[in-house]
Amino acid sequence: MLANLSNKRILLGISGGIAAYKSADLVRRLRDAGAEVRVVMTAAAQQFITPLTLQALSGQPVHTELLDPEAEAGMGHIELARWADLVLIAPASADAIARLAAGQANDLLTTLWLACPGLKALAPAMNQQMWASSPTRDNVDELKGRGVAVFGPASGSQACGDVGAGRMVEAVDLARACAELFTTGSLAGKRVVITAGPTREAIDPVRYVSNHSSGKMGYALAQACIEAGARVTLISGPVHLPTPDRVHRLNVNSALDMLAASGKAVDAGCDVFIATAAVADYRPVSVAEHKIKKAGDAMTIELVRNPDIVATMAARADRPFVVGFAAETQNVEAYALSKLRDKKLDMIACNDVSRQDIGFQSDDNAMVIFWNGGSRRLDKAPKTFIARELVSLISQHFSQ
Ligand SMILES: Cc1cc2nc3c(=O)[nH]c(=O)nc-3n(C[C@H](O)[C@H](O)[C@H](O)COP(=O)(O)O)c2cc1C
Repeated sequence: MLANLSNKRILLGISGGIAAYKSADLVRRLRDAGAEVRVVMTAAAQQFITPLTLQALSGQPVHTELLDPEAEAGMGHIELARWADLVLIAPASADAIARLAAGQANDLLTTLWLACPGLKALAPAMNQQMWASSPTRDNVDELKGRGVAVFGPASGSQACGDVGAGRMVEAVDLARACAELFTTGSLAGKRVVITAGPTREAIDPVRYVSNHSSGKMGYALAQACIEAGARVTLISGPVHLPTPDRVHRLNVNSALDMLAASGKAVDAGCDVFIATAAVADYRPVSVAEHKIKKAGDAMTIELVRNPDIVATMAARADRPFVVGFAAETQNVEAYALSKLRDKKLDMIACNDVSRQDIGFQSDDNAMVIFWNGGSRRLDKAPKTFIARELVSLISQHFSQ
């Protein structure tokens, strides 16, 4: 269940209460589950625990001031509110709850809360009498009525010596409760490495051998994997595409660079490797140090075979689930099936790049996907749609 937090962006608000020290542990647990955490502290919270502690644990600057020109020049308050998938206030003091219920925006935390379009949750923590008081009860009911998730409080002995309901829910349980707010993605918590785009094989400092791959299919797959809850590393040849949100992109040029980057990414942990890149089969034997001057009517460039990246990944002892792509212009299915077998892939998606209406530069694609003992045809559709269908197939076969 904690895997649901993978890739999620959580804005943790800390208000002024004794339980603020538990928020340090909460940051660590949320991050361990794969969430990105940014912390906002009220003025009172900073009397209980230092921003420095939360900065060290979250790995991000802690936000404390609403009217701070320096912070606005970085990630401004509205941007921060839009960034968050979830705002969780833990601990939520009686005073903070009252301000939220009243719709106030008189400090950074309450302003962000109002401006955030994402999920909202509170973990109240206060003296049992404060929790039982009518104003607090009314305020909490009001917030619940607006769709706010309220976790706890738990009962037990309190810092003030009282016994009763008012303790902040423990960090481990809060992390689990946050995870339950997010629906499960089919690749939740899985690590996916995708190669995309063409490679460029240098001839001299200004010329290269390459192909027409736009990278659109690989980028659409990266986006679809993120939507499915995966952590995605995209190893990209030179393309003119923006990096999908939350994707870790590594830029490479040549096939040898792409092989090295793929090996490192798989070493770092990879459940699924998807090779959409159109890797040049050959590269010039040598790269001229200076621009080659023209001479004579003909010239010959000697080429040498490039390593096969997807087969290399599939041959590893610690191999991930490996998906290859075949772009062919003839006998598409026969070539795809022999690649599936010869390269020991788990799945291969093959498209006919001789068709003018789909393929390399197009926004659309159509493909047949093969695995050991089965196949599925995906008719012409936008690459974003095809990518989602393919990710759904990958997750079904991966989990088997
Ligand atoms: C030692 C001490 C402990 C406190 N603990 C709590 C607490 O656990 N819960 C709470 O609601 N208020 C607590 N308060 C009161 C809040 O700090 C106070 O209401 C403050 O205005 C909250 O500000 P904030 O909501 O902006 O963080 C405590 C105050 C002190 C002096």
